[in-house]
Formats: sequence, C-alpha cells, structure tokens
Amino acid sequence: MALEPKVYIVGAGPGDPDLITVKGLRLIGQADVILYTDSLVNEELIARAGDHAEVHHSSGMDLEEMVEIMREAVAAGKSVARVHTGDPSVYGAILEQMALLKRHRIPVEIIPGVSSVFAAAAVLQAELTVPDLTQTVILTRAEGRTPVPEREQLRDLASHHCTVALFLSATLAKKVVKEFLEAGWSEHTPVAVVQRATWPDQKVVRTTLKDLDKDLREAGIRMHAMILAGWALDPTLVDRDEHRSKLYDKTFTHGYRKGVSASE
Ligand SMILES: C[S@@+](CC[C@H](N)C(=O)[O-])C[C@H]1O[C@@H](n2cnc3c(N)ncnc32)[C@H](O)[C@@H]1O
Repeated sequence: MALEPKVYIVGAGPGDPDLITVKGLRLIGQADVILYTDSLVNEELIARAGDHAEVHHSSGMDLEEMVEIMREAVAAGKSVARVHTGDPSVYGAILEQMALLKRHRIPVEIIPGVSSVFAAAAVLQAELTVPDLTQTVILTRAEGRTPVPEREQLRDLASHHCTVALFLSATLAKKVVKEFLEAGWSEHTPVAVVQRATWPDQKVVRTTLKDLDKDLREAGIRMHAMILAGWALDPTLVDRDEHRSKLYDKTFTHGYRKGVSASE
C-alpha cells in the first residue's frame, strides 16, 4: 500500500541496523524519497529503500535545499522518509525543518528511535535509575561553540547528583570534570563512555571523573561518544544486594500484585 504524501521523520537508532523500529524500517522500504544526513545513520538501513526510491545524502545541503526536496516530493504526491540518527527528538535539529514544512503546509509524522543514550546504557549493562541511589537521568551537553542557557550550566545540573548523560561533549571533558567537581561530585565518581555504540568498531571506556580527560585522550575518542556519569555507572553494583527495586520484593504490595506477607 502506498504511503500518504507526507514527511516521515524516522529515528534510525544508534547504528546497529536491527535497532530501528518495525515501523521505521517499513517506512524506509516504502518511501518514494529518502533523505539522510548523518554519518551515524547506517548505510545498511538506507540500502533497504525500495528500488523506486530516490535517495539523497543531505550533508552539504542547507535547510532550505533539504526542505525544497521534501516540498517538491510531497507536492507531487510522494512520501518522504527523513532519516535521523538515534531518536529525532534529542539534538536532532528537527524543529527548524518542521517549522519550514509547516509554512508549506506539509504534514509530518515522527517515528521515534533508540537514542544513543539508551544504546550506550545497554552496551554498559547499566540501569540508569537505581533504587535509593538515583531516580533521575539528565540528558544534556557541555557548552562548547553551541551555547547552553545560563540556568542549565553543568555545575547546576550536576548539583542533583543523579545520572547525567552528555551528548556532543567528548572534546570538552576537562570542562565537564571541572563543573562536576565544583558541584561537589567526588573525583572517584564512575564515568563510562561509549563511542559508536552498537557499531562494529564501538569503543567502551570505564573510568572516573578524575581520569576522564586523560582516558578519553588515550583512547583517541573525540566524537560520536556518549558520556554517562554518576554512581549508577558503578560496575560493581550488580554484585551487591543493596539497591533492589521494591517492584519484585515479595513484601511489597502494589495495585497489580499482592505481596506475600501482606496477603498471608
Ligand atoms: C547530533 S547528536 C544526535 C543524537 C541522536 N539524536 C540520539 O538520539 O542519539 C550526536 C551525538 O549523539 C551521540 N551519539 C549518537 N550516536 C551515537 C552512538 N552510536 N554512540 C555513542 N554516541 C552517539 C554523540 O554524543 C554524538 O555526538
């Protein structure tokens, strides 16, 4: 069945071509036009486009050029899959595309993807929200050339002592460490970095705040890396019993399951 003439913004996932949603993959297979940018979108996914599809690599195009391709296609009754790395809603720069598309009255549908933050957590076999340790994850970036609002400076966010996921920050490790220490974090706090999570050349570095900058330099990691910081990244947690969720505790009663002691 032909797709509706509109723009489907598809999250491609972190790299492994099996980590796209069923719907995202179906849309890539059926769309008349495919537009993708990032070197982090796996070519294996783009190879799943139908024989009839017109495929555009959008690096080197400006926003207006990209939107013009989408506009022309939809005006001709065609469907467009605009493929983004990870999940489109996180640092995906989709707002500016949607704003222009809206001006041209072009309908848009967004298909979520597996963000690199969750792919990295999976690679590390980490739970980012550990009972009694932290129940919060902050997704952010260090301030480099792209400004971060004053009220979201790392030192303020880090004052919550929760899990912090840093996108786009591998070259800013020194600054990250300084701000976390200023927020009162111990220099022994575990930090894990996953570069190119789920790709065949993925790299994992487990370190501490103190050694983050040195270890990233030694590993040659400058881009395409997810930095996860906080005690939830302590690799020894899994060998200890102290941080159990109440969910599977037999003395805990909740709406769907009566705890053994409560019902006995
Ligand atoms: C422009 S942002 C896009 C984020 C993407 N929308 C997501 O949800 O993962 C690019 C940054 O995402 C992170 N990233 C994307 N894919 C990654 C991967 N496979 N492994 C590690 N980090 C990744 C890196 O921090 C990279 O600098």
